Amino acid sequence: MTIREILKMGDPRLLRIAQPVSAFDTDELHLLVLDMFDTMRAVNGAGLAAPQIAVDLQVVIFGTGQVNPRYPDAPLVPRTVLLNPVITPLALDEEDGWEGCLSVPGLRGLVPRFSSIRYTGFDLYGGPIDRTVDGFHARVVQHECDHLIGKLYPMRIRDFSQFGFTDVLFPSLEAVDD
Ligand code: NI
Repeated sequence: MTIREILKMGDPRLLRIAQPVSAFDTDELHLLVLDMFDTMRAVNGAGLAAPQIAVDLQVVIFGTGQVNPRYPDAPLVPRTVLLNPVITPLALDEEDGWEGCLSVPGLRGLVPRFSSIRYTGFDLYGGPIDRTVDGFHARVVQHECDHLIGKLYPMRIRDFSQFGFTDVLFPSLEAVDD
């Protein structure tokens, strides 16, 4: 088990377009995903993308299947490993929601996202994943997959009056370190 360092906004490695995974079910891939879950758990993340630990691959993880103290009101999202994802919006409807990011510690912003999406990709073993989701689940997937194209959530904010420090915006979450 290894908790890896999370790159912070400003690091140019967060701005790369990640490479697709070409070989599934390898030892390297299994170790990478174990480290990603250890790292995400250590900081109570809702998700993590490989570029955030400086690995230039299209690998994201999200969901815990249990309540997350950083997002106590969020619906549960199943624990998922998703490789080479493709997102298709199912309608042009968007909804605003508050987001944070482990690469942007201490801040939250209101971000518009497609409210309903289909996402496809592969699991660790190369098995297909094909899900239609909405709400918080759809938001998490869009946020994590944005990391694979060099986008951090502040780049998606339209109203910067709705961007600020977590402990100011949400005093009841002040125990949360990001
Ligand atoms: Ni993030």
